[in-house]
Amino acid sequence: MDAAPTMVSSETTTSPELIEKLNDALAREMRAEAMYAHYAAYVKGIHRLHLTPYFEREASESAAHAQVVRNTLVRLGGVAVTQRHAQEIKHTTDYQTMLEQALKTEQQSRDAYRGILPLLEGEAELYDAIEQILFAEERSVEELLQVM
Ligand SMILES: [Fe+2]
Repeated sequence: MDAAPTMVSSETTTSPELIEKLNDALAREMRAEAMYAHYAAYVKGIHRLHLTPYFEREASESAAHAQVVRNTLVRLGGVAVTQRHAQEIKHTTDYQTMLEQALKTEQQSRDAYRGILPLLEGEAELYDAIEQILFAEERSVEELLQVM
């Protein structure tokens, strides 16, 4: 059988849809990393004391998630995107606006991973890795809803 770029093994074929969705999630993680790093630097006022470390942690977490998704793409024979998602990163120094943008970003990531998991049925190891990220996004959404 030809070693086509979409082949995973002789019995499994990676769907273009799965590669596309993983790349969308990856682009969103790269965007989230840039957004959180930006907000960590620009957040003003008394909330800066706890929000700068919080945003820095979220930036690191996004980078870690991006690495897992990238490795998943490699394992599946896909080509990972190198550009962040095109959705604008809203510049602000207002923490409330930052939290709203963070919530929106986390909800979009959560939805992206929810769309990926069903396509990873039968790939136990990859499924587990992506599921762990989904749980982390769900926790982030819950956390943000509580502080807002
Ligand atoms: Fe993430």
